[in-house]
Amino acid sequence: MFSSRFTRWNLHPNRISQAVQERRRSGQELLDLTCTNPTRAGLAPGDPLPEAPPFSRMYRPLPRGLRPAREAVAATYRRQGIDVDPDHVVLTASTSEAYSWLFKLLSDPGDRVLVPAPSYPLFEFLAGMEMVEPAPYALVYEDGWRIDLPALLAQLVENPRALVLVHPNNPTGSYVKREEWKAIAAACGEFDVPVISDEVFLSYTLEEKDDRAGSLAAADACLTFSLGGLSKEAGLPQMKLGWIVVAGPARLRDRALARLDLVADTYLSIGTPVQEQAEALLEYGGSRKAMIHTRVRENYRTLLRIAAGEPSVTVLQAEGGWSAIVRVPAVMEEEDRVVQLVLRDGVLVQPGFFYDMATGVHLVVSLLTDPGDFSAGLHRLIRSMGEA
Ligand SMILES: Cc1ncc(COP(=O)(O)O)c(C=O)c1O
Repeated sequence: MFSSRFTRWNLHPNRISQAVQERRRSGQELLDLTCTNPTRAGLAPGDPLPEAPPFSRMYRPLPRGLRPAREAVAATYRRQGIDVDPDHVVLTASTSEAYSWLFKLLSDPGDRVLVPAPSYPLFEFLAGMEMVEPAPYALVYEDGWRIDLPALLAQLVENPRALVLVHPNNPTGSYVKREEWKAIAAACGEFDVPVISDEVFLSYTLEEKDDRAGSLAAADACLTFSLGGLSKEAGLPQMKLGWIVVAGPARLRDRALARLDLVADTYLSIGTPVQEQAEALLEYGGSRKAMIHTRVRENYRTLLRIAAGEPSVTVLQAEGGWSAIVRVPAVMEEEDRVVQLVLRDGVLVQPGFFYDMATGVHLVVSLLTDPGDFSAGLHRLIRSMGEA
């Protein structure tokens, strides 16, 4: 009766969520170091949100969205020194929806799209919902993360329908470097592979370095779609507004926009009120962004400090984003370790395998966590390593 999509996924609760339920049922405390919701963990908008304009009586079903909202998005790029034409901006309800529209635009069922590994677990679902195969390309860690460029360049020749760059990536926190982008852009231009650049965490730097590429919203060597949204840009996921900036050689860009119009026109999924408030929300989001940025930087420093006291754990270098990865001794399976942390130590983290980390035992923590819980949870985690 149901689509074959669902045969790929196990719909039953996993061992970790069962352990969480068990711990909660027992009434014992559980410190959650996995919260990535910017309206929780003490980060709920405190000040009044911008006053809503009078209820919109008129409906203007424009596929790319209302012009003032697109101008407000373009202005955020102008502030980074990037000239974006509002006519090249397509509004969406979220970044996740942007992915689904782009997979519809670029691929047919069974086609492959290249996605980073390790990366964000939702790709499996975002691609799977469109019947597209996510094909991993490797990020490798030696003194910091980098793309395995020779391997990726070889994969680009094999006719993938798109290359997804997550810039910076979740959970590795690694930015695409300028040198990497130069090689990738040239290959994508040559082999006609469109690039989807997920830049939702772009401004959340954890350490400053000058080797990284900026936003790819002004790319000209190949067709490029840069994604952003209020969810991270303003810490307001509940507003449901994201965007795609289409860039690249003019003829390809315009053909892509014409087809995206058809996709967007089919759904018209973004409410008028949030479009009318986009400029005000982006402005208001500036202070939220600053508050979140301070939180993630402070938690990252706390993590480095606490981990420095335990030689058996290593914090992998994170350059940006809202997550960090801790490598711990491989004396037990990742899943067993996470279950033990929940049931015995009362601390919840995510296992590296959720993010397709293939080797070693890694635990992923959210830097958005309430600082008190974060520090207490890390102390428990570190203590637990000693007790193995
Ligand atoms: C890398 C990355 N892209 C996109 C998203 C989804 O963002 P949105 O809320 O706009 O769908 C997330 C959510 O955590 C993410 O980690």
